[in-house]
Amino acid sequence: MKLLEVEGLTKRFGGVVALKGVSFSIREGEIVGLIGPNGAGKTTLARVILKLLSPDSGRILFEDEDITHLKPWEVVKRGICGTFQIPKPIKALPIISSVMAAALSKYGFKGSKIEEVERKALKALELVGLSYFARAYPFMLTYADLKRLEIARALATEPKLLILDEPFAGLTLTEIQELSEAIKALCRGSSRRMSIIVIEHKLSELMRIVDRVIVLNFGEVIADGKPEEVVKDKRVIEAYLGGEEV
Ligand SMILES: Nc1ncnc2c1ncn2[C@@H]1O[C@H](COP(=O)(O)OP(=O)(O)OP(=O)(O)O)[C@@H](O)[C@H]1O
Ligand SMILES: [Mg+2]
Repeated sequence: MKLLEVEGLTKRFGGVVALKGVSFSIREGEIVGLIGPNGAGKTTLARVILKLLSPDSGRILFEDEDITHLKPWEVVKRGICGTFQIPKPIKALPIISSVMAAALSKYGFKGSKIEEVERKALKALELVGLSYFARAYPFMLTYADLKRLEIARALATEPKLLILDEPFAGLTLTEIQELSEAIKALCRGSSRRMSIIVIEHKLSELMRIVDRVIVLNFGEVIADGKPEEVVKDKRVIEAYLGGEEV
């Protein structure tokens, strides 16, 4: 079943056309890689879907509902949540509290039982392998664990669609491999059929965990298919890799 459908999204920043008629869909339970050169429009696309930016034209459908004009918190309530390139932890709060704050951003304080919110937060920390640090503070975490914390905060909102913007940036190869496994387990292991969009430049690791890859170049989708097909696509090789094969 289609979870997200994006139709003809266009976004301009002054003279720069960051997205030009972008269309694609995401099915339930799939992990999709979103790749493309610097400035291709990947982060802009994530921000438009998360409603942190409004598109100039086009439509976004989520579970058949038109969400194009919703506010960011309304999108979180529908079940879409994302993380960004640079972790921004709440330094003054223990880790469990900042994850609980994220859960509350979806469910609100009214009517939320604090034990239930804490249970959700602990579950989110467990999913990213950070349970041990629940009572620690962000300064005690490595950069890789801060990135896991960002994912835990997103997971605490119990998303149906999770969008990760460069989760591997700044990590060592071992850390990337560990995080890849954790991301894969989020879709494969859960009873809920979560879908994930992963924006990445680290292609070799990304290709191991995705079911499908969408390639953006100068704001346009130039390929959408299985990883093994996309890496052989001539337009992708030319645009993304300057003629070098992946
Ligand atoms: N807030 C903004 N104001 C003006 N121009 C912007 C803004 N955000 C993005 N752009 C421009 O839109 C284009 C797409 O940028 P975007 O950040 O979406 O690319 P990206 O694919 O995420 O790149 P990277 O791989 O470097 O993160 C670029 O030309 C960028 O300079
Ligand atoms: Mg980006």
